[in-house]
Amino acid sequence: MSELRFEDVSVRYGSRRRGLTVVDGVNLVVPSGATVGLVGESGSGKSTLARAAVGLLEPSAGRIVLDGKPVPRPGPVQMVFQDPYSSLDPRMTIGSSIAEALPRGSRDRRAEVLRLLEQVDLPGDRADQYPAQLSGGQRQRVALARALAARPEVIIADEITSALDVSVQGTVLNLVRELQRRMHLSLLFISHDLAVVRYVSDFLAVMYLGRIVEQGPADDVLRDPQHPYTRELLAAAGARGLDGGLEAEPADPHHPPSGCRFHPRCPIGPLVLDDRDLCREVEPDGDGHRHHTACHFAADALVPEIARRNP
Ligand SMILES: Nc1ncnc2c1ncn2[C@@H]1O[C@H](COP(=O)(O)OP(=O)(O)O)[C@@H](O)[C@H]1O
Ligand code: SF4
Ligand SMILES: [Mg+2]
Repeated sequence: MSELRFEDVSVRYGSRRRGLTVVDGVNLVVPSGATVGLVGESGSGKSTLARAAVGLLEPSAGRIVLDGKPVPRPGPVQMVFQDPYSSLDPRMTIGSSIAEALPRGSRDRRAEVLRLLEQVDLPGDRADQYPAQLSGGQRQRVALARALAARPEVIIADEITSALDVSVQGTVLNLVRELQRRMHLSLLFISHDLAVVRYVSDFLAVMYLGRIVEQGPADDVLRDPQHPYTRELLAAAGARGLDGGLEAEPADPHHPPSGCRFHPRCPIGPLVLDDRDLCREVEPDGDGHRHHTACHFAADALVPEIARRNP
């Protein structure tokens, strides 16, 4: 199986002069056979990173490698999107859509299609139906079957439950988790919703305005979140009430704040504590740790400190 690695990856839209960098120096590893959850609010650059991983966009800097080598296209890295309509042709039967994704020269395509449908818990007679005859959850299963048809080693799942009814999100999540384990897939699971991501992830990466601000083993990050933004997401996910954050200015990649990009919203940053000019001036770094956080003041002592200063 395979390790997908993002090395200092930046992705821009537009020209070199007037472009917009929406993924900025991302280092991220999806270990072989593991699930990495990538979480961050809308606009943080998650889908852009995903599209670069499957070759739909070219990084403007850095590289993306599979087991140390450039990713062959098409093939070992497959993507499943939020909206299965975008990957399923409405005029094609489910069976033909899946068959189309089989590697060239595959034999007994009908049997293979039926096997793939079975893997995603759909009855074989769905093969002759059209996408419109299926529910949203069933279509997303077909999109998964189609991704699996290419015999991938890595799957990028981008908001795959976000368009589904809450009632079916759980079954699709369970299916994804089960397939990942059974087939030892490496999975990059992307969502804006930490409550969803935490459910499937071995590792967690938190993205804010194009940068990874915290990453580590999921248990560590969830039990002991270091970055104030991670704490905000956790609180939003209902897991843990803390901090709350300042009134959120929507993050705008055209005008990234100086220093730490999170500083205008940070509940322990320069707008709250007057000795934190550093946050405005210097972008925090600190890569390479097991549990890595890009914050100058990430430490457990912070919360009592705020209580002391703002009684
Ligand atoms: N094709 C595009 N051209 C220009 N800007 C884009 C394009 N696609 C996305 N963006 C911008 O890039 C930023 C990140 O978008 P995206 O990667 O979709 O974030 P996310 O998936 O985290 O919501 C957003 O500000 C978005 O408006
Ligand atoms: S570096 Fe400063 S502004 Fe940024 S998250 Fe840490 S405390 Fe907040
Ligand atoms: Mg997205």
